[in-house]
Amino acid sequence: MSAKIISGTETAKAIREELRAEVARLKEQHDLVPGLVTVLVGENPASQSYVAAKNKTAHNLGIHSEQVTLSADTSEEDLLALVDKYNNDPAIHGILVQLPLPGHIDEAKVLYAIDPEKDVDGFHPVNVGKMVLGEPCFLPCTPHGVLELLQRSGVETSGAEVVVVGRSNIVGKPVANLMLQKRAGGNATVTLCHTRTRDMDFHTRRADILIVAAGVANMIKADQVKEGVVVIDVGVNRIGKSESGKAILAGDVEFESVKEKAAAITPVPGGVGPMTITMLMKNTVQAARQSAGLE
Ligand code: GUN
Repeated sequence: MSAKIISGTETAKAIREELRAEVARLKEQHDLVPGLVTVLVGENPASQSYVAAKNKTAHNLGIHSEQVTLSADTSEEDLLALVDKYNNDPAIHGILVQLPLPGHIDEAKVLYAIDPEKDVDGFHPVNVGKMVLGEPCFLPCTPHGVLELLQRSGVETSGAEVVVVGRSNIVGKPVANLMLQKRAGGNATVTLCHTRTRDMDFHTRRADILIVAAGVANMIKADQVKEGVVVIDVGVNRIGKSESGKAILAGDVEFESVKEKAAAITPVPGGVGPMTITMLMKNTVQAARQSAGLE
């Protein structure tokens, strides 16, 4: 049987409509326009396309968005000064510095410099700590998007065996943490696999819900999953270019074979990607509301 396709595009569209209405309401009732700045250092093509998509979405929802593009040789000092400028700009409620940064810049130093109240990526240690403790905070966008996709697709997580493949700070670690929180959308039994895991297949075959964020194209094959699994594929791998020059994308999961065994699966593109951007918009609106004392 072929799996149900969990469409991030459709789910993201529904959430964006909610956000559009909320942005209009904030303007009308409080004269408040959420503001987002994205900062891109260098010319990584994937980062360029992510940042462009984030700004376009913000614009479409009525969110004020500013895009700063800096050359790859920008100094750490100049980047920190820019972050400080936006920390003190009342029109900006959310600051996003696109990762990865060039090697000469200390990523942690930059992320720690962002005001936690404007940290719409949820990467500042204050927000990471609150997330782990289950306190209200900005949740990191991709893990939050994964949770929303599961919840809005009616997937039961309580008591489920959730296996996460990949232990990055951006996806693997936080998504594993969110899945085990004691609240709706969590309550799972979580296993976190990584490059040193001894028998990966043993774990992936046990999964009721398999979340893959390893960054390796088509890494998970049909013989590594059980019948009826729900698969969330976070991978976005550029495996070539079409004749028109557009990047050809593949997930971390071999979609065509795994979909024949799974109960439900996210496609790439059109799965987690649109959800990440939408959760960034949600965090930006939340940041604006908080700045105005509305929550
Ligand atoms: N690079 C890849 N994903 C992300 C993300 O969610 N936020 C930022 N800032 N950089 C990224």
